[in-house]
Amino acid sequence: MAITMVMDHPLVQHKVSILRDENTGTKQFKELVSELAVLLAYEATRDLPLEDVDVQTPVDVAHCKMLSGKKMAIVPILRAGLGMVEGVQTLVPSAKVGHIGLYRDPETLQPVEYYCKLPADIEERDVFVVDPMLATGGSAADAIKLIKEKGAKRIKFLGLIAAPEGIEKLRSAHPDVDIYVAALDSHLNDHGYIVPGLGDAGDRIFGTK
Ligand code: PRP
Ligand code: URA
Repeated sequence: MAITMVMDHPLVQHKVSILRDENTGTKQFKELVSELAVLLAYEATRDLPLEDVDVQTPVDVAHCKMLSGKKMAIVPILRAGLGMVEGVQTLVPSAKVGHIGLYRDPETLQPVEYYCKLPADIEERDVFVVDPMLATGGSAADAIKLIKEKGAKRIKFLGLIAAPEGIEKLRSAHPDVDIYVAALDSHLNDHGYIVPGLGDAGDRIFGTK
């Protein structure tokens, strides 16, 4: 069974609290999303394989470890997932970036796909799917289904705020996918918004409201 991790690090909790605040403006919101993505990526890369290397220091040879060259990809779910890309890239600069465009139909709450462009060698890469919100879980579950259909085998989901319904949906649709989130909230409201959540992540990142 894959991991479901709600980060309890004090820095994560502090930053999420500011993120939630309705008085936090677009500039700070974007910065916090990016910083939280760094912290999530730090945890999600904990199992990267290492190899032994000898490094000549000015004093002696040090027997060290270095990453054994795993190939990675970051796939944001448009739009809001874009806000997390730079943060993950800070830790994994060699990762290729794919994009999946999905929006939730406001009536049915079902995800509607409008774009998909992934690295050609996606089947060889460890994939980080990023999206700040895991609400009903429909968008993440559909995005991961698409990525799997293109051949990817090792996928992790990184999000900021999840509802229990979203975790449940993603777990049952993709039991092999590790989930890392910064907070787990109470429930969804009648419009499929996470309560208490932070509102519409895309609008707050891009200032469209
Ligand atoms: C938001 C969010 C997720 C989705 C989560 O995107 O960024 O992609 O909703 O909801 P779900 O778990 O119920 O599918 P939205 O559809 O608002 O599109 P946007 O990022 O373009 O604003
Ligand atoms: N999408 C958002 O941006 N926020 C929510 O609370 C749910 C879906």
